[in-house]
Amino acid sequence: MAKSRRDSADSYTLRARKEGYPARSVYKLEEMQVQHRLIRPGDKVLDVGAAPGSWTLYVHNKILKDTGSIVAVDLNPLSLNPVPFNVTSLTGDAFSSEIREQLTSLGPYDVIISDAAPMTTGIRSVDTSKSEYLSESVFHLALEQLKVHGNLVIKIYQGGGEATLLQEMRKRFKKAKGFKPKASRSDSFELFLIGLDKLGDNHINQ
Ligand SMILES: C[S@@+](CC[C@H](N)C(=O)[O-])C[C@H]1O[C@@H](n2cnc3c(N)ncnc32)[C@H](O)[C@@H]1O
Repeated sequence: MAKSRRDSADSYTLRARKEGYPARSVYKLEEMQVQHRLIRPGDKVLDVGAAPGSWTLYVHNKILKDTGSIVAVDLNPLSLNPVPFNVTSLTGDAFSSEIREQLTSLGPYDVIISDAAPMTTGIRSVDTSKSEYLSESVFHLALEQLKVHGNLVIKIYQGGGEATLLQEMRKRFKKAKGFKPKASRSDSFELFLIGLDKLGDNHINQ
């Protein structure tokens, strides 16, 4: 059977293999980091929906090196071997009470990055509403666990309330914008929402 376009390895997949990253999604974070300097050496970073672990590995290898720390949470374990020394890996639903408790005890965080995505069904309205739930949950986690002046990245499927969420982010961050990485697949309807410089509770934009 002929391979579909999605099955065949594209240049990002080949580059990820060559550079030792378990997923091509690393280059989406790289684009956002290069444009917005989201993460700085010494930061405490929370990666939500971290498996197999490309974003976490990139943050460790390219930004933090032997400074700062990362908490990586996913329903599935990371496939990094070894897991870098400054990474705490939690396996479970990021929004369950048990994991929330652990995230709280390890926080607060300078930066929260989330590439969390639901299991897709192929039915766009179902997939976008699952993505909307996840992205709103990450936003609420950030309201609790992200430090003032912190930065946030949330993935959402377009058609899943991205305009409303962006509006909410604009109230809570000095700047918030949508970002479509070049590394996203051409048929992907994902969008990243970036919040820069979280405002204090007394400075919320109305
Ligand atoms: C696209 S993958 C992330 C890839 C990752 N950024 C990387 O570069 O390796 C999306 C991840 O979101 C995770 N996920 C979805 N819902 C979640 C939840 N409620 N809690 C934790 N992780 C979740 C999935 O298990 C999946 O591993």
